[in-house]
Amino acid sequence: MHPTDRPRRLRADGIRDLVAETSLAPSDFVVPVFVDATADERVPIESMPGHERVPVDGIVERVAEIRATGVESVMLFGIPDSKDATGSRADADDGVVQRALRRLDAETDAYVVADLCLCEYTDHGHCGILEADAQTDAQLTVRNDATLDRYASIAQSYADAGADMIAPSGMMDGQIEAVRSALDADGHETLPIMAYAAKYESGFYGPFRDAADGAPAFGDRRHYQMDPANRREAHREVGLDARQGADALLVKPALPYLDVVADVREGFDRPVAAYNVSGEYAMLHAAAEQGWLDLDAVARESLLSIKRAGADLIVTYFGERVAAQL
Ligand code: PBG
Repeated sequence: MHPTDRPRRLRADGIRDLVAETSLAPSDFVVPVFVDATADERVPIESMPGHERVPVDGIVERVAEIRATGVESVMLFGIPDSKDATGSRADADDGVVQRALRRLDAETDAYVVADLCLCEYTDHGHCGILEADAQTDAQLTVRNDATLDRYASIAQSYADAGADMIAPSGMMDGQIEAVRSALDADGHETLPIMAYAAKYESGFYGPFRDAADGAPAFGDRRHYQMDPANRREAHREVGLDARQGADALLVKPALPYLDVVADVREGFDRPVAAYNVSGEYAMLHAAAEQGWLDLDAVARESLLSIKRAGADLIVTYFGERVAAQL
């Protein structure tokens, strides 16, 4: 053996951490929070242990718990009091996210990202406005450009209520341009946008759809979310969002798409985010409950892998748990 062929020298205690290429910090994490207009008290989400639907009155307390672990950022998802075809509660001044944003803005220093989508607000559960004949035709159901007008209005409403960042997640073409110009027209030129730039049509969103009550009533999202088969297409999708003014570029899900995270890191000079989604969280919990995995270890390893692939920040339900270990 040649004397240089001993990489184990660098794996001893003491040196190991010094030469670590990647590390985790609480400031890497954004923790999703579900605020529920129909709840009077916190309701546990069965498929996402440790997460709950929280009433507006409980949002400040919930965010304080997260901040106690060192994580300063949260992402808000709303469950409205009622749903209709156009998702009219999404941009209502007294909507559930708007009320939560005002409370958080007034009472905390947390950094609050508002997820912007219509699927939690429409009675059909799709991320936009449907064609008139959509109920009978599951093909090409969502009207792209009419939906952009809705997103623009929701973005203004969230910004006016005090959001620190807007994260459009509906995968309509042109959504970043629509949201950017709506924010600028409303005096919010300095408010950043984190684009769900490469968001795949994934089975890993299952638990979230229970949590936020946003499963499509018919059909699926394959006409707007990306095909899991495609890697090169992500470059085009992300490039469009970057050109339209996205300040940060998000890939979702995270673990099954680390090749895409690495590509976006390599190909774009913007912060890269990855969303470690509900299914990635639920499956580790399920295995740990059986005693098959050490939850703390695999949670940490998952987030470390996402960073190693190139993410600067991670939206993750594990945020509090892992931050508490660091
Ligand atoms: C809304 C949205 C979804 C998720 C985040 N924003 C659901 C979906 O697209 O079906 C999923 C997040 C998760 O699974 O943790 N469009």
